[in-house]
Amino acid sequence: MELPPKRDLAIAAGVAFTAVFAFYHARERKTRTRKIQRTDERVLVLGASSGVGRTLAHIYAQRGARVCVVGRRKKEIEEVELECKTIQRIKESEEDRNAFSFCADFANPEQMVMLRDIIQAEWQGVDTVIVAAGVSSLQPLLSVANLKHDSDHVELEGVQRVVEVAKAALHSNFIGPLVSATIFIPLLLSTSNSPSILLMSSLASVIPAPTRSLYAATKSSSLLLYESLAIEHPPIAFSLVMPSTIKGDFRSSAVDGGSIRDASPGPSQKGLDKSYVARKCVEAIDYRKKHVFLPGYHGISHLLYWLFPSFVEARAREKYQFIPKPSPF
Ligand SMILES: NC(=O)c1ccc[n+]([C@@H]2O[C@H](COP(=O)([O-])OP(=O)(O)OC[C@H]3O[C@@H](n4cnc5c(N)ncnc54)[C@H](OP(=O)(O)O)[C@@H]3O)[C@@H](O)[C@H]2O)c1
Repeated sequence: MELPPKRDLAIAAGVAFTAVFAFYHARERKTRTRKIQRTDERVLVLGASSGVGRTLAHIYAQRGARVCVVGRRKKEIEEVELECKTIQRIKESEEDRNAFSFCADFANPEQMVMLRDIIQAEWQGVDTVIVAAGVSSLQPLLSVANLKHDSDHVELEGVQRVVEVAKAALHSNFIGPLVSATIFIPLLLSTSNSPSILLMSSLASVIPAPTRSLYAATKSSSLLLYESLAIEHPPIAFSLVMPSTIKGDFRSSAVDGGSIRDASPGPSQKGLDKSYVARKCVEAIDYRKKHVFLPGYHGISHLLYWLFPSFVEARAREKYQFIPKPSPF
């Protein structure tokens, strides 16, 4: 019997792979809105006083969901509550808990337990937890250690500064997601018929970037934490969103006080629109998508990093305008 030519076999294998891939994802992504009406959804947004979290709160208020917004800046978070109420057409004077704010640090266990109890009392539970909070860091590690030249000996104070800055980055980028998961996973499991949790991670958590070592490492740790939790808690849909740079002033949250290398100071004018990122987050939650790269082609960049690391590293240096110091030898 004559075998089909190799090209036909390759095409058949490609078609079969695409069909299996499409079937698998269609099965995985049955829309959640069949189980929870948009107007019945109870949504908690951690890190909603600005940026993507704030835009997400507006979208959910628009859909008629109940929204609780959390952030450390009291004035800003109360403004967001008011914006949500205005969208929901609730008068400021009305005692209505369809939208409310809670001023808190999401890495603080006491404050988060208090929030859990309030949500339980007001809404009898939660369906969607969005972990949008995070902080940036912008300096190369050895600059954080106050070294003028990379080959100088680092002083004790320099190492201590690195540890302090790392702790500050860990606080919001790892401890906050950890505390939130520990407190809200049991509430999601016990009170929602379609529980969902979204982590706003970053492309930097899977493709490293120069001047972002502490940011990348701390964002990566929470990504791995949530990936592991997704295996431990299959009833919960975990969505892990990894955007590249987003327009806005995220860099002003830098815990190392670093100067901005890849753009002029002030809000970043380059990058993704926060409303685009927020819409993709909502889509990920509605369709129970697990890993979401933004833009989508960065899924390939991730693969390229494993196949051709030095090529991707060179592109990363270009993007961040980072020129490595020459070796003394
Ligand atoms: N902007 C980018 O280029 C970019 C790219 C990829 C991924 N991301 C990720 O996207 C997420 C949102 O960033 P964004 O651009 O929207 O920045 P943003 O405007 O600075 O928003 C960050 C939010 O996190 C809150 N937050 C930080 N630490 C907190 C804490 N300990 N407790 C409570 N709230 C805290 C901030 O509120 P308070 O200061 O009021 O507490 C703020 O509402 C972050 O997780 C970030 O890592 C950003």
